Amino acid sequence: MQEIIQEIKRLKIEKNALILAHNYQAVAVQEIADYRGDSLQLAMLSAELDAPLIIFCGVRFMAETAAILNPASKVILPVEEAGCPMAEMITAEQLREFKAQHPGAVVVCYVNSTVEVKAESNICCTSSNALKVIESIPADKSILFVPDRNLGGWVAHKSGRKIITWNGYCPTHQWGFSAQNLKKMREKYPDHELLAHPECDPLIWQNADHVMSTGGMVRYLEKHDKVIIATENGLTDYLIHLYPEKSIHHLSPTAVCQNMKLTQIEDVLSALKTEDYHIVVEADIAAKARHSIERMLEII
Ligand code: 13P
Ligand code: SF4
Repeated sequence: MQEIIQEIKRLKIEKNALILAHNYQAVAVQEIADYRGDSLQLAMLSAELDAPLIIFCGVRFMAETAAILNPASKVILPVEEAGCPMAEMITAEQLREFKAQHPGAVVVCYVNSTVEVKAESNICCTSSNALKVIESIPADKSILFVPDRNLGGWVAHKSGRKIITWNGYCPTHQWGFSAQNLKKMREKYPDHELLAHPECDPLIWQNADHVMSTGGMVRYLEKHDKVIIATENGLTDYLIHLYPEKSIHHLSPTAVCQNMKLTQIEDVLSALKTEDYHIVVEADIAAKARHSIERMLEII
């Protein structure tokens, strides 16, 4: 392990490369990264970075967003197959049909989506700014929200707006937690607060003390000591690693995103050596998708 880490550090300097890691990545990958964060933090950062080579440890839609926002950098996704099943739950063709059924509606697209779907949308959002994005839409406009029905349902609940959601979901957050987990952990840790990601089923977020993005959870733990966390386990594992003295618990041990776990430290080294897999987004689609992403960044 130490040899791999040393070699990564050497190659990073030699190639003037930067490593970005999402909060769900394995602890060892997060440890070697120059920057960690949630989808929004990493997207904003990628737009600003001045580096010829960016190794993006996460899933494809995140690396695509970085490549779109920073065309001057070569963006590498270490494991080609690392995708997001929720992003595959709506195609551009399906979105065009959805729009045709609701003419005049504003299309809000969660960043966990393909570039083709972003290109067909009016504005993107992440879990940390979804509410602000919805609130920026004139009250007389109807809203279509794709692909996540749970995040869409949560922002509808928070904003009081009528939102028509696509029936997509994140398998990890949808099936990773249950009413039994809730009951068991609430009874075991009655003085702990429950933090839930808005991708969870409404059963979970309705019973949570706070609903927030992974970046929000990282900030919350800077000032709090006793929590139960309902999101992909990589974040909770990293927080336990960061704060061994705090009482931090997974709501369920089975909430693991297999795609996020495909990238291991060996893959980071290999990506630095071979510069595979280079993320290239076709120019026309990139320009349209960029418009939706930049509209989101303007209102933050
Ligand atoms: P965050 O933007 O909260 O990091 O969420 C990304 C994600 O993929 C959640 O499943
Ligand atoms: Fe996609 Fe869910 Fe994995 Fe996030 S945790 S990358 S939404 S499958």
